[in-house]
Amino acid sequence: MRRTLAASRLDLVGLHSHIGSQIFDTGGFDVAARRVLGLVAQVRDELAHTIDQLDLGGGFGVMYNSQHTPQSPETLAGGIAEIVVRQCRELELEVPHLSFEPGRAIAGPSTQTLYSVGTIKDVRLGGPHHRLYVSVDGGMSDNVRTALYDADYSCLLTGRVSDASPEVVRVVGKHCESGDIVVKDEYLPGDVRTGDLISVPVTGAYCYSLASNYNHVPRPPVVAVRDGEIRTLIRRETEEDLLGLDVG
Ligand SMILES: Cc1ncc(COP(=O)(O)O)c(C=O)c1O
Repeated sequence: MRRTLAASRLDLVGLHSHIGSQIFDTGGFDVAARRVLGLVAQVRDELAHTIDQLDLGGGFGVMYNSQHTPQSPETLAGGIAEIVVRQCRELELEVPHLSFEPGRAIAGPSTQTLYSVGTIKDVRLGGPHHRLYVSVDGGMSDNVRTALYDADYSCLLTGRVSDASPEVVRVVGKHCESGDIVVKDEYLPGDVRTGDLISVPVTGAYCYSLASNYNHVPRPPVVAVRDGEIRTLIRRETEEDLLGLDVG
């Protein structure tokens, strides 16, 4: 910050922190705000410079499954504003302009991924326990988060109604990898069958942007739906797309 203030072409206006992701309460923001505002006070005292913008990053959690309990933006914003105001009072600082960078909380819940069911295997887990392995026409190339960081997703039978009793399922992809899992454990109606559609909610963040052509599986389209109207935002990849970079 000393060097920034000494540089004639730079203007030190604010400080920024980003503490992580899938955060459901304000505890971490309390610690972050305390540390960053401590620096703001230090810059005021030691460098006689006023920093009037504070960006506390993103990280607000979303509901991938029923264990996740996101708070409303109003509750989070109110809680964090209260923390910042309290810290500023203690440090005798003007309350800075506060900004955030929510990513997942905006994009995630906007989207769900639709898969067609392929092969189903009933796998014995020992004793009376078993699990249906439900394979789908996608997987780690369109959603690598489960394989990459053990992320938790849920799924629903879509397109038909079933009152069959629920069975524990694992939704797996078509990439020929033991880690190619989309949904680790969830219940689906026990009569789930080849050709059914299943949907995996909350896939709008870090899924398409992390997607790949692993094993030359083309990426799916992204289709917007509103008031019964659909609009293709990103078209489905074709074999020509996959081979398009090949200079032979
Ligand atoms: C600096 C910064 N801000 C904001 C975000 C968004 O985080 P999230 O999507 O968890 O809200 C990230 C994500 O890694 C980040 O690195």
